[in-house]
Formats: sequence, C-alpha cells, structure tokens
Amino acid sequence: MLAIELSCDDACVALLEKYPGRVPQVLAHSRATLASAHTGGIIPTAAHEFHQQALAKEVQKIIEWDRKLPDLVCATRGPGMVGSLSSGLQLAKGLSIAWNVPMVGVHHMVGHIAAAFLPKKEGSPNGAENHETPHFPFWSLLCSGGHTMLVYLKSIIDHEVVANTLDIAAGDALDKCARELGFVGNMLGPELEKYVQSIDDNEKLAFGKIDTARDNRFNLRMSMPMRGPKRLKVPEKVEFSFSSFLSSVQNLKKNGPLTEELRRFCAYKVQETLFAHLADRVLVALTKPGRPFQDFVCSGGVAANGRLREILRESLKRLPDSADADEDIKFHFPDLSLCTDNAVMIGSAGAEVFEQYRKKSDMDVLPIRKWPMDEWLVADGWVDVSDAEFVRVTDNEK
Ligand code: KG4
Ligand code: ZN
Repeated sequence: MLAIELSCDDACVALLEKYPGRVPQVLAHSRATLASAHTGGIIPTAAHEFHQQALAKEVQKIIEWDRKLPDLVCATRGPGMVGSLSSGLQLAKGLSIAWNVPMVGVHHMVGHIAAAFLPKKEGSPNGAENHETPHFPFWSLLCSGGHTMLVYLKSIIDHEVVANTLDIAAGDALDKCARELGFVGNMLGPELEKYVQSIDDNEKLAFGKIDTARDNRFNLRMSMPMRGPKRLKVPEKVEFSFSSFLSSVQNLKKNGPLTEELRRFCAYKVQETLFAHLADRVLVALTKPGRPFQDFVCSGGVAANGRLREILRESLKRLPDSADADEDIKFHFPDLSLCTDNAVMIGSAGAEVFEQYRKKSDMDVLPIRKWPMDEWLVADGWVDVSDAEFVRVTDNEK
C-alpha cells in the first residue's frame, strides 16, 4: 500500500505492507518539509508550489523499495490547506488509475488517532508506555498545530467531538509564544520543550512556586483559561482556549526587553499553564457521566511533548472512578516518530476503512478544507468495494 500525507507543509510518503486484521508494517517512509522559518509561518501558495516539486520525487524514491506495485493508495483528503491536499489527491488518483487499484481519501485527524494503534519502537522513550492497542470505546485528545479536540470514539468512524477550541489550537499557541520568545524555526513546539527541559531543576522548582494568576516579581500575568470565579462549576459544554497565552507573552514584552531569566520563566510557564489547562478541561469532560471508557489516547504533534504526557497522567489520576488499580486509565501515546504528521498513520486509517467498511473513494473527490471528524464517511464520494476488488487487494496483502 502507498500512503500520501499532504495537508500542510510536509510531503510525506510511506510504503506499507498490510495483512488483513493486523496493523501495517512500514517498508519505507519519507518526508520533505517546506522551509518556512524565514517567512515566520507557512504561506499556502509556497506550500502548493513546494509540493508540486517535491511529492512526485518522494513517491519515485519510495516505490523503488519494493518491486511489487502497491495494491491500495491512501491519501489525505482533508482537513488542511487545499493547495497541499489537492497535490496529494491528484497524484493518488493518477497512481490509482495507472495501477488499477482502489484509492481511499483519508481524514487527517482520524489518521492521528490511528497512529496510536501502531507499534512503538523499542528503546524509544515510549518503551515504558502501554504496548497494547486501545480498546473502543475510548477518549482521544488530539493536539496539533491546527486542531485541539477531545473526542469520544466508539469505532474508528464513530466519533463524538466533546470539546473543541474556541480560538486557536494548542500547537499554534505554543508555536506563536515560542516565536515571541525569540525562537526561530519551522516547528517551534519541540524547540520550546527542549529549552524548558534544559532549565536547571532547582530553578524550575522555584518557578513552579510562583503564581502568575497574581502579581509576581516577573510581572507575567498568565492564568488557566475558564477558571475564573464564574466558571468554577462544571460547564454544560467543555471548551479549550489558547489565545490568552500569546497575549500574556506579548504583554510581558511590553514591559521591556526580556532578560534570559525572564525568558526561561515565561517559557516554563507557557508550557506548564497551557498543559494544565488541557488536562483540567479533559478532567471536567471525563467526569461527566454517560461515556464509559478505560483507554485514553493522546495524539497529534503536541502529544510528542514529554511534559504534556506527564501532566495528563498526573491529573487524570484524580478521576474518581479510577481509584481501584484495575480501573486505572490506560494511556496510549503514539511512537514519537508518529506524533507529528506522517504518511504511515494515513495508510493505517485508510486501510482500516477499506477492510472493515469496504469503502473506497471515487475519482471525482475534492479536497475538504474544513472537515468535522464525525463526517468522514458521511462526506460525498464513497463507493462500495466489490467482492472481487476486495479479494484482489486483501489477497495480495497475505
Ligand atoms: O500534527 P502536526 O504535525 O501537524 C498538524 O496537523 O498541525 O502538529 C504540529 C504541531 C506544531 O504546532 C508543533 O509545534 C507541535 O505540533 N509539536 C510539539 C512538539 N512536537 C510537535 N509541541 C510541543 N512539544 C513537542 N515536542
Ligand atoms: Zn496533523
């Protein structure tokens, strides 16, 4: 199977081997990324042009790994930047016609969830994590540069988006705050994480004792959103909000140039307060009755953050129902290499729909810029796979 992920600035291609009912094996995976550090963000037209140049070459490189032609093509259909999505979809359609194999248009965010089902590399920091695959129904916190959602899943296609962000996504807020703090690069969440990790433990301990919801010697004002006196009772609708973190950093800079100590303090507080807000809202949503679960998945680019993983584990321990050890929440975080955008997760999600639901995409499907997660199979352009085609693809996979 060939999988293509093009929704933003990465051109990712993967060649996978899939045995029915099992998770796919990665034969080859490649990624080419648009350099956008100097532009301070991704320019959609530049991304489109980049993909026109990069994608075909990546595919050419990847298919040389295996003499056998792929029997299924999966490509991201949305949500994302239309220019990027259409470059990927067009090539996927061309390959599907040329190889006479089905194509599946994949929902990018479902791909992120599918990443949690894939094996983790031995020796990675995930080594100590849960190696079992998640069991439905489960909760999934999706944290990326474009989305922050808490979703309750009964199956890979049956989702209920329980909480969403009111403004920007968590990853976007981290990137913007880091940029304000002087970091330069393509993806700044990991830079911020490394920087905070490098702060001396004693200093972090001292920083932790300073409450930025009140006056403090650094004059940084930053508090957890939705925790004001009027908001203390459990809200009808749970929501996230991240734009205030950027305002806090911008306001701090109005006081004058940042000293190195102030920069460390602010970087530390951005991560801690933003992740505490995420965990706080998740806890509120999980304590509401009616959605039984034992597994909790956190995926998307921000899920690569070690501190977020720690804070979620610490905060969700307080869930009243999980007091009994047997009832403890089972956490699942994708392998670090599969948290940020990649084609493996797209192939994995696409193959699932093909195998379990026997669906493929029609050749006239268009990219979908904004696409609610619960509308993956509700969108237009699905065609039932005939028995003959199903056998042809799945037999090849054996
Ligand atoms: O899922 P992703 O690769 O792309 C989108 O679908 O948006 O997520 C990218 C986001 C960026 O905002 C990036 O800064 C953030 O994930 N990110 C991280 C880390 N790695 C990636 N944020 C915090 N800590 C990390 N280690
Ligand atoms: Zn993503």
